[in-house]
Amino acid sequence: MKDLLKILVCGSVDDGKSTLIGHLLYNCNCIYLDQKDNLIQESKKSQEELDYSLLLDGLNDERKQKITIDVAYRYFNTNKRSFIIADAPGHEEYTRNMAVGASNSQVAVILIDVTNPLLSQTKRHLHICHMFGIKDFIFVVNKMDLVNYKKQEFLKVQNLLITYLKKLDISSYNIIPISAKAGENLNKPSPKMPWYKKDDFLTTLEKIDVNTKSLFQDFCFNVQRVSRPNSNFRGYQGPVISGQVKNGDELLSLPSHQKVKIIKLYAPDKQVEQASKDMQITLQLDREIDLSRGDFLVKKDTFIYGNMFSCDLLWTDDEALNLNQTYLLKINTKIVNVTITNINYLYDINTDTKKSVSTIDKNAIFNCDILLQEKIVCDLFSKNQNLGRFILINPLSNQTSAAGIIKSQLNSKYIYAQNLTIDRSKRSEMKNQKPVTFWLTGLSASGKSTIANELEKYLVTLKKHTMLLDGDNIRLGLNQDLGFSLNDRAENLRRVSEVAKLLNDAGLICITSFISPLQKNREQARKIIGDNFVEIYIKTPLDVCIKRDIKHIYDKARQGIIKDFTGISSPFEEPTNPEIIVDNTKPLPEVMNDLITKIEKYL
Ligand code: ADX
Repeated sequence: MKDLLKILVCGSVDDGKSTLIGHLLYNCNCIYLDQKDNLIQESKKSQEELDYSLLLDGLNDERKQKITIDVAYRYFNTNKRSFIIADAPGHEEYTRNMAVGASNSQVAVILIDVTNPLLSQTKRHLHICHMFGIKDFIFVVNKMDLVNYKKQEFLKVQNLLITYLKKLDISSYNIIPISAKAGENLNKPSPKMPWYKKDDFLTTLEKIDVNTKSLFQDFCFNVQRVSRPNSNFRGYQGPVISGQVKNGDELLSLPSHQKVKIIKLYAPDKQVEQASKDMQITLQLDREIDLSRGDFLVKKDTFIYGNMFSCDLLWTDDEALNLNQTYLLKINTKIVNVTITNINYLYDINTDTKKSVSTIDKNAIFNCDILLQEKIVCDLFSKNQNLGRFILINPLSNQTSAAGIIKSQLNSKYIYAQNLTIDRSKRSEMKNQKPVTFWLTGLSASGKSTIANELEKYLVTLKKHTMLLDGDNIRLGLNQDLGFSLNDRAENLRRVSEVAKLLNDAGLICITSFISPLQKNREQARKIIGDNFVEIYIKTPLDVCIKRDIKHIYDKARQGIIKDFTGISSPFEEPTNPEIIVDNTKPLPEVMNDLITKIEKYL
């Protein structure tokens, strides 16, 4: 039997998808004679040349609006392979359908207009394909006829693309120059582009070696239905999600963890000796166990069981995400109540950066933490695609609000604190010092960084081993995914507190320099870091900070150019009970003398 390749074709509106598929089917003689006649008639009405996109006129609206509005599936064969092509909509409004196509395909063909490359919708499609597990990509740089088939024009686009793919960590791809309209490089080498030495589009499709390395191979069966036609028979029905099973195999139920043996195996209704992935089967077991719809039978338990996960989501609902609402999470046959507890970041397609946001609108791709009302059996998407992807449904509107994948499990019950032989006291003894964290807090431009730097210089003259964590520096690295909302600041300071604690564990004296605007931020830091936390308030009145502000950042905040700015449009709560207060209106040497005497007792 010829192997079957599932391809998703996508790209921005007008990049030429329908023409590409239509022309390919036409050239491969995969259209019916009446379709051919019809095409000739229809094309004559509007223009001289054949308009191959008319072959894909599954929906009337599509032709009227000149866009493809649903995923249309086409089947075709060559001598080497069989293909299913999912023709995904290019228009931004239909991104959801495109995500559906992506999760059912092995290879993505992404069209790029050589005259207008890498539009944001193309990048969005690329992100979605990547997110939903497509590992192999074919980029067809279309409309080469418009640039007279010039190599230089192709290379420009190719370079742009390669740089972009590196960012996304996509390494398996082909880039092919074509003209879908003229049929160049479609199913035979193009004489117009002799400089292109690699395979044409169809040959590439025939040869492409699909990356199956990451496919989960272990046996996994999902119970969809318990069949009890009479009192002598109880069968568990459902699909084999992955792997293979034989009559007589011993299995483990999840989540109840009971061992059972198969005594009869049916697929779908005839008795068989073995079954494999994607088959619908019925299992008769040697004994009755606690097993119902949504549960699993597996050979080895390598799965996750939990209710808190970090996920990537594609928001597909017209209504924005509501953090106060409960959604329904559907994963395989299981449906569970879920809330989104935190939006970690948004992937900004236009700037290719992770952005901190508080609202999520349609078509946003973002990372968040979710909390399910009950624990479920599932898996990381990177390991097991079927058990790692889900959809969210809005129970009020019944809309599919999002499609998502599980990136990691939070709060695993399998994590235990380990006792390490070399501990904080050993490490600090070797350094001959007492670990402590000097936590500097104060307004922007209050002088925290300068004082922190001077303090570290002083400690080094005392032969102390130190480390300085500075707000701006940490935000350029470890915390580059965070912004300045109060939630993000809390996360910024939580991470910094954990790092400070580790540095103290390493026996070091740590100095931190962060605005840490709220009392509760500083209380949390104290709680994480423990007894050796010394809060130092760099007290500089706001008007002095504004005068000293060499970055003119306060001006920008006042004009509204910078949002949520501490002291202007975001609160600063003065510390209620800091260990040390530094009056930073005096000259620096005086300030430092004062500080040095005050820290003495903590060293
Ligand atoms: S904190 O609030 O989370 O503790 P942090 O100390 O890390 O803030 O970062 C403050 C630095 O970021 C300031 O030195 C300032 O230069 C810069 N910054 C940029 N935007 C803002 C903002 N909206 N509010 C405060 N600081 C900002």
